[in-house]
Amino acid sequence: DNRKRIFSAMRPTGRLHYGHMAGALINWVKLQDEYNCFWGIADWHAMMSDYADPGRLKDNCYEILLDWLAVGVDPEKASVFVQSHVKQHAEIHLALSMITPLGWLQRCPTYKEQILNLQNKDLSTYAFLGYPVLMAGDILLYKSFAVPVGEDQSAHLELTREIARRFNGFYGEIFPEPGTLLTPAAKMPGTDGRKMSKSYGNSLQIAEDMDTIWGKVRTMMTDPARERRTDKGTPEKCPVWDVHKFFNKDAQELSEIYEGCMTAGIGCVDCKKKLMVHLSEMMDPIQKRRTEFAKQRDDLKQILEAGAARARAVAEETMADVYRAMNL
Ligand code: ADP
Ligand code: NA
Repeated sequence: DNRKRIFSAMRPTGRLHYGHMAGALINWVKLQDEYNCFWGIADWHAMMSDYADPGRLKDNCYEILLDWLAVGVDPEKASVFVQSHVKQHAEIHLALSMITPLGWLQRCPTYKEQILNLQNKDLSTYAFLGYPVLMAGDILLYKSFAVPVGEDQSAHLELTREIARRFNGFYGEIFPEPGTLLTPAAKMPGTDGRKMSKSYGNSLQIAEDMDTIWGKVRTMMTDPARERRTDKGTPEKCPVWDVHKFFNKDAQELSEIYEGCMTAGIGCVDCKKKLMVHLSEMMDPIQKRRTEFAKQRDDLKQILEAGAARARAVAEETMADVYRAMNL
């Protein structure tokens, strides 16, 4: 395979939602036609923030795989694997940790942020501080040409480049510096208007049936200034409008909804019902595929084994370079 390599990963920490689909997976499905893609299920990363309770980790790997396959990630085109199945991820983490200054990690904005946000967890571990080193290792292991990331991840990627430069400075030009393929999509809001997130309880999940989704959309927050049906609204202040913009491809209808909201010509419930038509249409084939794949547990195992084997072939070559360079 002579195509340029790309790596990205997600942590198996729960079911994926429409934000993952819009913000990452739809893009992955396009990228796999053009690049040699390595899509990792980052179980070591999940372990780092949840080491005390790994109970559901293995099941979650299958759940995330089902979500990926359902939206069109294709294991024939891309290598889909579990991070811990490719042992070189742990090896490269150790090699890179030799040359990573502590200060770089302590200053990492997401580290500081997570320590503040996740106060119910003990994150004062060596591994958690080293999270960006593992992430750098993931990317560099495949000598990735670029990484598809949302804006939220660009600081980590910059650190990956710094680690690569420092390694190369000590031992020779082993790692190309990975570029950024900025994910085009903006942040999708959840039912409470905040960013849709696994941890806010505000998400529309890929695996949920449309009755459940309607239950959530029906009560979803709208423009807070529009209290009554007769009030005029401001679409820009309405999270439902944001979701329309992501998934409603009918330009004519979109402009009718926009006008209708501004003039109180259409109510919020009608607007939500229109949204549901588009969500149902989009999700119908996705959910059918998910149901089919879920019946084939052996096939899923097989997909992960084949993906890991392909990933390992590249990883072994890179580690041979690393060992040679470090004189090990
Ligand atoms: P992980 O813990 O695996 O990093 P996240 O839940 O943070 O998983 O999301 C993974 C990726 O999915 C993010 O980097 C982002 O690009 C995308 N994503 C997640 N939530 C949203 C959202 N609400 N809107 C747009 N993109 C999102
Ligand atoms: Na994240």
